[in-house]
Amino acid sequence: MEVVIVPDSATGGELIAEAMAALLRRKPDALLGVSTGSTPLPVYKALAAKVRDFEVDASHARICQLDEYVGLPSGHPEAYRSVVLREVVEPLGLTDASFMGPDGSADDVAAACLDYERALAEAGGVDLQLLGIGTDGHIGFNEPCSSLASRTRIKTLTEQTRQDNARFFKAVEEVPHHVITQGIGTILQARHLVLLATGEAKAHAVALAVEGPLSALVPASALQLHPHATVVVDEAAASSLKLADYFRATYAAKPLWQGL
Ligand code: F6R
Repeated sequence: MEVVIVPDSATGGELIAEAMAALLRRKPDALLGVSTGSTPLPVYKALAAKVRDFEVDASHARICQLDEYVGLPSGHPEAYRSVVLREVVEPLGLTDASFMGPDGSADDVAAACLDYERALAEAGGVDLQLLGIGTDGHIGFNEPCSSLASRTRIKTLTEQTRQDNARFFKAVEEVPHHVITQGIGTILQARHLVLLATGEAKAHAVALAVEGPLSALVPASALQLHPHATVVVDEAAASSLKLADYFRATYAAKPLWQGL
């Protein structure tokens, strides 16, 4: 796993957006897996700016969703489908046709999960999956003790995650208890995993994920199993890393041509 420590979230966003742009230059119809929440917004902003400035042509990009709330009415502004359309698909000048995600309003949630697994496989798999990390170490909505081999399925959010996400709703009671999430096994099939974490609230989870033992208790530690995983953290989120100096030195000495 490569750990890149950046001064702030805007720098992290720019770095990851450039990795996405480089991928699209190599593979114009790359399937980009996107996450939601606050952390990835600087990435989407930076990538949209690159498109506007003609630094990259994203017109053939394909976008897929990582997770979704179950039970929000379709079109709800906080449904992750709405968020991804608003924050990623539209700013990149794409249409709904280039987007795929699980159906959180399906009557048959189990079938919707299977359908989504099938759709991802038929699309050729995810080229680059952007991840955030929960304060409890979740990736996607794989909460602690999720199977490291799990596939897309329904999960129950922890109270901590519901509290963390209450800021997007009028009250914590409105945060759904259930979600559909790509499983950890599903996420690990993406060809490149990029996790962005910013802010001190993520420092403990980041340290456990990067330096702790591989454990279902810390789902993000599953990145240790991936042959191409990049963790981008700002100084605050890096503040509990024992090997921070080593990570800094390694990145400073990295040949530029390698990219992320
Ligand atoms: C949501 C997702 C979650 C978030 C995590 C952090 O699609 O994948 O794992 O990345 O809950 O959320 P923020 O960035 O809002 O702190």
